[in-house]
This record gives sequence, structure tokens and C-alpha cells, in this order.
Amino acid sequence: MNNIILIGFMGSGKTTVGMQLSKKISLEFIDMDLEIEKESGISISEMFKLYGESYFRKKEVNLLNELLKKDNIIISTGGGIIESEEVINIINCENCVIWLDASEDTIINRLESELDKRPKLKNNKNLEFTIKNLMKSRYKKYKRAANIRINVDGKNIDEVVGEILVYIDKNMLL
Ligand code: S3P
Repeated sequence: MNNIILIGFMGSGKTTVGMQLSKKISLEFIDMDLEIEKESGISISEMFKLYGESYFRKKEVNLLNELLKKDNIIISTGGGIIESEEVINIINCENCVIWLDASEDTIINRLESELDKRPKLKNNKNLEFTIKNLMKSRYKKYKRAANIRINVDGKNIDEVVGEILVYIDKNMLL
């Protein structure tokens, strides 16, 4: 079960880092949001609108369970995956769960231009307040789910990927 699972808030860089890491170590990369969109034929935003968040969360858990039957893959999760206790329990059995942690400022800066893709934040009157509260409520959950926390503030993709490679190497995870 040598999989690498990337967790972290929206905008923390899970997809970009996962893709780059996959090139470096030649492992298959799967982005869960994209996979859910491909399977259902609609965007995550549409799914939230049509069927609600809880429908999406069920899809997430089901997909995660399916993916973890595989070996040697890199999985980029959606930022809210740790909202479910069931997911934290599943993830806790994995030995390489990497939390890309970013400060509120970093997240706010990165997300301002990408709100359309984020139904949790779209049409929000007070974006900063919503992001701050959501981050605060999720902080402990990311911490419980992860084996390693990487602070991504002020770092480029190569630097973050470099830190992950050092961790994998040191812990002989692959
Ligand atoms: C969500 C994050 C999104 C996506 C969905 C819900 C969240 O993924 O799964 O919009 O609740 O934080 P990203 O973290 O890739 O933006």
C-alpha cells in the first residue's frame, strides 16, 4: 500500500504538486475531483448545485476506497475530504499522507482568481471570513489525518516536491 496521499485546503497546491511528483518518481497520479467529474459527467460545482454537498462527499469516500485498493499511486484529494470521520479513519491506515499546509494569506491570494471552480466559496460575500473559518474548523482534522505536514508558504512547486522526496527517501517509503 505504498500510496502517496496529498491533503490540504483548497489552493494549497495538491494537484500541481501531485502532477510534478508523479513525473519525478514515475508513479501514476490521480486527482480525485477530476476523477469524480469524469465519472459523473458534470463539474463539482454542478454536482453541489444539483445534488448537494453530501452527495459529493459520498462519491469522495467511495472513490477513495476504490483507489486505495491500488498500489503505488499518488492521490490528490479534495480539500474537504477530511470532513468525514470515516475518511480520517481510512487515511490513518496509510503511511504516506502529506498535508500541504498554507497560511490564510497564501490561500486567499491563490483562490481569489479561482472561485468559479470552488462551490464552497463561490458567491460569498465575505470571502476572507469564510476561508478563515473553514480553515480553522479543518485544521485539527488535517493534522489528525496526516503523517507529515509541509508548509508551502513562499515555496515554489519544485521546493515542495523536493521536501516530499526527502521525506519519502528518509522513511524508505518507496
Ligand atoms: C472542496 C475542495 C475542492 C472540491 C470541492 C470541495 C472543499 O477541491 O473537492 O469543491 O470542501 O474544500 P480542491 O481542494 O482541489 O479545490
